[in-house]
Amino acid sequence: MSGNADALTWVSSPAESLRGEIRVPGDKSISHRAVMFASLGDGVSHISGFLEGEDTRATARAFAQMGVRIDTPSASERVVYGVGIDGLKAPSAPVDCGNAGTGMRLLAGLLAGQTFDTTLIGDESLSKRPMRRVIDPLAKMGARIESSGAGLPPLHIYGGTTLRGIDYTLPVASAQVKSALLLAGLYAQGETQVHEPHPTRDYTERMLRAFGYPIEFSEGHARLSGGHRLRATNVVVPADFSSAAFFLVAASIVPGSELILRDVGMNPRRTGLLHALRLMGADIREANAREAGGEAIADLVVRYAPLHGIDVPVELVPDMIDEFPALFVAAAVATGTTRVTGAAELRVKESDRIAVMAKGLRALGARIEETPDGAIIEGGALHAGEADSTGDHRCAMSFCVAGLVAAGSVRVLDCANVATSFPGFFEFAKSCGFRLD
Ligand code: S3P
Repeated sequence: MSGNADALTWVSSPAESLRGEIRVPGDKSISHRAVMFASLGDGVSHISGFLEGEDTRATARAFAQMGVRIDTPSASERVVYGVGIDGLKAPSAPVDCGNAGTGMRLLAGLLAGQTFDTTLIGDESLSKRPMRRVIDPLAKMGARIESSGAGLPPLHIYGGTTLRGIDYTLPVASAQVKSALLLAGLYAQGETQVHEPHPTRDYTERMLRAFGYPIEFSEGHARLSGGHRLRATNVVVPADFSSAAFFLVAASIVPGSELILRDVGMNPRRTGLLHALRLMGADIREANAREAGGEAIADLVVRYAPLHGIDVPVELVPDMIDEFPALFVAAAVATGTTRVTGAAELRVKESDRIAVMAKGLRALGARIEETPDGAIIEGGALHAGEADSTGDHRCAMSFCVAGLVAAGSVRVLDCANVATSFPGFFEFAKSCGFRLD
C-alpha cells in the first residue's frame, strides 16, 4: 500500500449528459470508527455498509494485528468480536495506516492508553502529514509519542503510561484531533474535555454513545471520563457524502443531466458543499429524508443547472473541508468569480489541495490564483490537457469530473489512490455516463 509509483492514468472525455441512480460506498469516517469501537466493545458487533476502501481496510487490519477477530461474511459487512476496552494485544509488527490520516491520528490517541508500545507507519503522502496536532495535546495528557523529525510519521507510541484527562481548546477545527483526545480520554484518569473553534463532524461522540459509553456533547464541545466500557452494537454506515459530492458537481455542470444518489449521509457537519452549490445556483433536492443507524440520510436528486461564482461563506468551510477539490471544478466552469478563504487546512490534506487543484485546472485553461488560505477562481471554459492528482484520491476524481465538460479529453495522472476512499469509482462513473478510459 505504501507509495504509488506505478501511477495509474485515467482519461476523462466530454460527456453528453449523466443519468442514473447510484448508491456510492459507505462513509469513510464512520467506517473507521465503527471498526475501532466494535473492536473495543464487549460482545459481537455487526457493521453493514462498511467502506471497502484501502483506508478503512487498513484500520481493520490494524485491529486484527492487535488480536481482534474480524469476519467478512460479505463485501461491505464486518462481524467484529470485540475484545473489551483493555483487551487489545501488542502487534508483532508496525501498524500500516496506508494513506489514512484519520486512521493514524485516531489510533495515536487510542494506543497512547495501552499497556504495550506500537509503531504507526503510512504511505508516502501520510508520511508528510503533520502529527504534532495530536502529539502535543496527547503529551499534555501524559502520553509519550516519538515522531520522525518535524512531527511526521512514523509514530512510536509508548504504552504503560498513566494518562490524565485535560481540558483542551483545539487551535484548528479538526475532528481527527478531537477524536484522538477523546479516545485517549477513554483510558485517562478523570475528565477529558475538548472545545472546538468551529463544530466538526461528531461521529466519535455519537458512536461512543451508541456503544453505551457515557459522553456529553453539544456543538463544538465534548466531555467524557475514563474508565467505562463499550457495549457491542450494530452499525449501519450510510453512503459517503464526500463520495456523492463528485456526482453532485458532475450532474450540476453537464447539460441535460439528472442523477439520483441513494442513502447519502446528511450529517450537517458534512453537507457544506450542498449549501455552497445551491448558492451557486445548483438544482439539488433532498427526497426520502430519514434516519438509519442514528444518522440522517436522504436521497439526493441533482439536475443540471447553470452555476455562478460565489464567495464561499467561511463558516461553511469545516463542513465541506473534503469537498474543495470538487468545488474548485464547479467554480472553474461557473460564470464569474469564486473566492475561497479560511481554508488553509487544505494545504495539509492527502496533498496540498490548493496547489494541486490550481495547477491541474490551470493546465486545462482555468484561471486560478492561489492564496495562502484559499483561491480566487475565474470561471470559464476548460480545454483538453493533463492534470496531475499527485496521488490524491479526491483531486483525481475531481479532475475526472472536469474532463466531462472540457473541450477535449483530460488525462488524469496518478489515480490509484482513488481506491483509498472510493473503490469502484471508475465503474460507478461510467454507469451514469462518464466517458472514462
Ligand atoms: C475526518 C476529519 C477531517 C477530514 C477527513 C476525515 C474524520 O480531517 O478531512 O477526511 O474522519 O475525522 P481533519 O480532522 O484533519 O479536518
